[in-house]
Order: sequence, then structure tokens, then C-alpha cells
Amino acid sequence: MTAATSLPGHAQVGIVGGGPAGLLLSQLLHAAGITSVVLEARSRAGLERLIRAGVLEQGTTDLLTEAGVGERLRREGAVHHGIELRYDGESHRIPLSMLTGGKGITLYAQHEVVKDLIAARIAAGGYLAFEATVTDLQPGGDGPAGITYTHAGKAATLSCDFIAGCDGFHGVARQAIPPAVRREFLHEYPYGWFGILVDAPPSSPELIYARHARGFALVSTRSATLQRMYFQCSPTEDAQGWRDGDIWRELEQRLATRSGWRPVEGPIVQRDVVSLRSFVCEPMQYGRLFLAGDAAHIVPPTGAKGLNLAAADVRTLAQALVAHYHEGRSDLLDSYSGRCLQRAWRAQRFSSWLTTLLHTDPTQPDFEARLQLADLQHLTSSKAAATALAENYVDLARH
Ligand code: DHB
Repeated sequence: MTAATSLPGHAQVGIVGGGPAGLLLSQLLHAAGITSVVLEARSRAGLERLIRAGVLEQGTTDLLTEAGVGERLRREGAVHHGIELRYDGESHRIPLSMLTGGKGITLYAQHEVVKDLIAARIAAGGYLAFEATVTDLQPGGDGPAGITYTHAGKAATLSCDFIAGCDGFHGVARQAIPPAVRREFLHEYPYGWFGILVDAPPSSPELIYARHARGFALVSTRSATLQRMYFQCSPTEDAQGWRDGDIWRELEQRLATRSGWRPVEGPIVQRDVVSLRSFVCEPMQYGRLFLAGDAAHIVPPTGAKGLNLAAADVRTLAQALVAHYHEGRSDLLDSYSGRCLQRAWRAQRFSSWLTTLLHTDPTQPDFEARLQLADLQHLTSSKAAATALAENYVDLARH
């Protein structure tokens, strides 16, 4: 995209990582008249193809709209007002909107959000470099911050007032916080998710989260012609080792109801296995460096919170930077990490709870199964319990 030679040597904010967090931050700063440069290691095509989750909370939809990228989302995104919890051969609807004063979720794939943001940044003439490798970060302190990187075969340095580390779990930004200051919390779950994209119309008008003795299964959707489904597997499962017919038999068994429900089958056009982990880095800021999104925290995917949490960090960071530049205030920047971590741990609690509620634990299957069924019966018979689930599911990241 942009040639290294045409990138400036200074920006108010240097953004490491051009995934949804980095792009959204750059877009929000641009709207407030604050300059930024986004440095992304991957190619544009690689980013725009990356299949991730697709559930947007209302607060995320609002933020994307405020950032000027809400138009296609509003046109193509599907608003859902409920989800199904399925166990013991029965489905139970959780009426999300009814329980939360009318709030819902929007199904719109993360890579579509990324496409919209890239197009908006380029249309606005923003500095956005793909295939740029960051080699060193200077998080500053009293002096200016800096980012050393290579792009198009040339080494360069960007000096900036602030650095936003938006380069994901495997990124380099977090490493710039000295180990003596940094504390990392990691929990790895003893299972993974086998995900498929299917060329077929939706099997269900709403998402289905299923608990079964053979393991968790999830029915989601992408469009009128493309479905997304997942089932619990070993974290080291080889996705290519499965025949299509075996995938369908597994999904059918886990999703079966007494009334004979079956998924709509079709050609499996993509498959992947992801491992499940919870991760939090404390603090999320050091000197002039601020982490946002997966660079600072990973949640297991069951509550679909990852992108929503990243967007919430970005909203908090953009507000703090605007207060700094426009009002000369530093209090919002100073309290950034504390405020984001409070939300991140709430999302961690919810995602971890929903994960253990629905997955078979291979290390203690019988005891866990009884606890899961007790919890599920409570959720599907108590309005208070269902409301707690609904509030967290549709609107956790707003706070
Ligand atoms: C999807 C992913 C999730 O993690 C989830 O909880 C719901 C839906 C999805 O990819 O559509």
C-alpha cells in the first residue's frame, strides 16, 4: 500500500497493528484531528481474509457507526434478538432483547469490519503501511516515544507522542513493558474449537449454543448463503484429518433434539482449529505505550467477546487521547489501564463461565456435567438468571 518513503517520520500516535483495534483507533483519532500512522505486519489481502467471530454488541455497532463505517454494517448485518441454549435434547430460547430493554446483537463478520475500516482509512488519505515489520519500540517516558520498523526493504523510525500496541497476542508491543513491571495471567483450556464455513442457508434463525456429553457445539451464520459452525475438539486436532461426513455426524449428534432437529448441510468451504485460552497482561500501559485488544487480553471465544472488548479499549483510548490533545487533560490517559482491566476481567469471568458451562471437561467429565446441568436448568427457568446472561451477552463491553 503506502510506500515507506511516503510515511512521515513523526505522528502524534504510532499504531502498531492494523487489525480491527488499530484501524478503528486510527479512524476515531482522524475524526478528532489527531494524526496517526498504522504499521501492519500482514498484507492487506491476508488481513481481509482472516476469518474470526462475527457477533457485535450494540456498543460496538454504535462505535463503528460513530467512526463512519456503519453503512454496510447496517445494510448487511443481521440483528438477532435471542439465542438458543440446547441441552438434554431440548432447546430453550433466551430472549435477549426482551430481557435487556430492547438490546440485541448484530451478526457481521470481523473481516468485513476490517475491510470497511481499511477502505475508510485509505479514502481519508490515512497513513497505513502493510507488510511493515516492527523491530523495536521505545515506549518513552519523559522523552518522545519511537517505533523502529522495516517496510519495502528499508529500515525507518517513527517518532511519536504515544504508541498504541494493537498487534495481537503474538505481537511485539507488549514485550516493550519491562518484565519487572509486567504481570501476565494465562489459563489454557483442555480443548479447542473445530470451525467450519458451509455453503448453505442458515440452519436456524438464531445462534444455538449446545451442551452435549460428546462436547460443545455452536450454530452461527454469516449470510443467507453461508453458515458458520463450531464443535469442541482436542486443542491439537488436525482439521484436515476429518472427512466431511464425519464432521456432519458429529454436529448432528451434539445438536440433536427430541423433535428431530438437523443442521442444513452443504459443502464445507473452510475449516480451522483454534485452541482456547484466557490471557490478561497487567498493566495495559507503560510510559507512552498503551495496549489495546488481543495484545493485552484474550478470552475464550464462547461469549464472542474478543472483538467487542478490543473496540471498547479503543473507545477508551481514543477518548483519553482526545482529552489530552484538546483539553490538556492527562487523567484519562493515566487511568486507562485500570479502567480497561476492570472490563477485561469482567469479560474474562463471563467468557470463562460460559465456556465451562457448555464444554465437556475431559479431566472430570461426570462432576462437571452435573454442575453444568444444574446451571443450565437455573438459566432456563429463572428470569433473573437469564437476564444476567442476556446483559453480559449483549452489552458487557459498554461499561
Ligand atoms: C461466532 C463465534 C463465537 O465465538 C460465538 O460465541 C458466536 C458466534 C461466529 O463466528 O459466528
